[in-house]
Amino acid sequence: MNLPNMQNAKKRTNKEVLYIYDNIKSSSIFKDKKYYIKTYGCQMNVHDSEEIKGILENIGFKETDKFEDANLIILNTCAIRENAHDKVFGFLGRCKHLKKEKKDCIIALCGCMAQEESVVNEILSKHKYIDLVFGTHNINELPKLLVQKQEDIKINVYSKEGEVIELGEIYKRDSKYTAWVNIMYGCDKFCTYCIVPYTRGKQRSRKSEDILKEVEALKKIGYKEITLLGQNVNAYGKDLENEMDFGTLLEKVSKTGIERIRFVTSHPWDFTDKMIDVIANNDNIMPYIHLPLQSGSNRILKLMGRRYTKEEYLELYRKIKEKVKNVAITTDIIVGFPNETEEDFNETLDVVNKCKYDGAFTFIYSPRENTPASKMEDSITLEEKEKRLQRLNEIVNKYSKENNEKYINTYQKVLLIGESEKDENKLYGYTETMKLVNVECSKDLIGNIELVKITDAKSFSLDGVIENA
Ligand code: SAH
Ligand code: SF4
Ligand code: F3S
Repeated sequence: MNLPNMQNAKKRTNKEVLYIYDNIKSSSIFKDKKYYIKTYGCQMNVHDSEEIKGILENIGFKETDKFEDANLIILNTCAIRENAHDKVFGFLGRCKHLKKEKKDCIIALCGCMAQEESVVNEILSKHKYIDLVFGTHNINELPKLLVQKQEDIKINVYSKEGEVIELGEIYKRDSKYTAWVNIMYGCDKFCTYCIVPYTRGKQRSRKSEDILKEVEALKKIGYKEITLLGQNVNAYGKDLENEMDFGTLLEKVSKTGIERIRFVTSHPWDFTDKMIDVIANNDNIMPYIHLPLQSGSNRILKLMGRRYTKEEYLELYRKIKEKVKNVAITTDIIVGFPNETEEDFNETLDVVNKCKYDGAFTFIYSPRENTPASKMEDSITLEEKEKRLQRLNEIVNKYSKENNEKYINTYQKVLLIGESEKDENKLYGYTETMKLVNVECSKDLIGNIELVKITDAKSFSLDGVIENA
């Protein structure tokens, strides 16, 4: 099956799109219908789900957290590794059962898996109970797709990305205090192991004026923290003519006066000295940077197409640590890239021992459809890869704990987000350096930034109290 090309589809303006929503809403066809959405994957998908929820509520739907009660079930999927695929098809099994009793329930699959041709073919041949598949480039068409009568599985996935359509503050945001702000979509880096450039398309930056308007609006309605979102935020603007670079954008966002600014993800290759200075010189830009390493071996980095060497990465790391006061740095690491030798792996451990990260997400390499790395020969057994992952995790966790222990008896500014899941007498929140803190305090403080004394430290969280509260 060939995915249709977006360029053949009629391009709509934001006004036309919103007009269609209004018409659907006034027809009341979805009034009081319930939707359930399950989200897999990265922050990009989390934020897309906020958009989908906003769009659905705009046309009359209400959210339910019980999928059995829903008239519409949406799975917003991730394709980054094989296990993401397995989880989705596991849940779809439950939807299939439900569909036997509730025939008119609409089951929809969207997100990055929907952009994979093999998944679409699998759905067409084996999962006929799925009513609708739509991709990452046409979320705004969902209302129209739902109105169209479904006789067969409706596949509505485009292989090419569309224009960036600005629908304004349509999102149903998960939090009242922290908000995601997309600054770009897609990715042009094409790291050889990664599926994202295929599922999300080429890099498309939003205009800086639209981003700044969104931040201003969020500040006005009480948001304390925003996170600028993109697969490679440091490359912001490079795809637009006469657009500012990421350092300048950060500076402008800082001037809006919003209390906290974060950004993910940073690619080391596009990180400039200017960006480091802007982060260092503006108090409302948080001293926390996620700086994916992937591998410490120059041989593997080259095969991955990462465009930096171990030495360049370490130099960037050193500069950031030197200039940005008390900065916390986390990373992503892949073990078991095709033919990674023990020597290559030891190079990765060497970088981890030098950087002593605040935290790291570690993964076993997973071959992805149509990526260059998936065609490379690999003689390393899964058993060996698992052993390496375990060795790496032990070291990573040791440094996380040591870094966290340094916080004991210090005072940290913590944005309190909500009730702690483990203990209802506590609230949870984040330090400026993105450390999770569980705080014993009154629930009235949710949404505040409070000075918290850190009393204990674990590998993945801190405990704290508010003195004189
Ligand atoms: N844009 C981000 C990465 C997004 S994906 C960046 O460049 O840093 C998040 C992480 O998933 C990556 O950093 C990488 O460590 C991991 N990852 C991506 N593709 C993978 C694959 N095929 N197998 C295993 N891990 C992978
Ligand atoms: Fe994937 Fe590389 Fe783009 Fe990150 S920068 S999304 S790892 S291709
Ligand atoms: Fe997954 Fe797509 Fe994000 S593949 S990690 S949801 S961009």
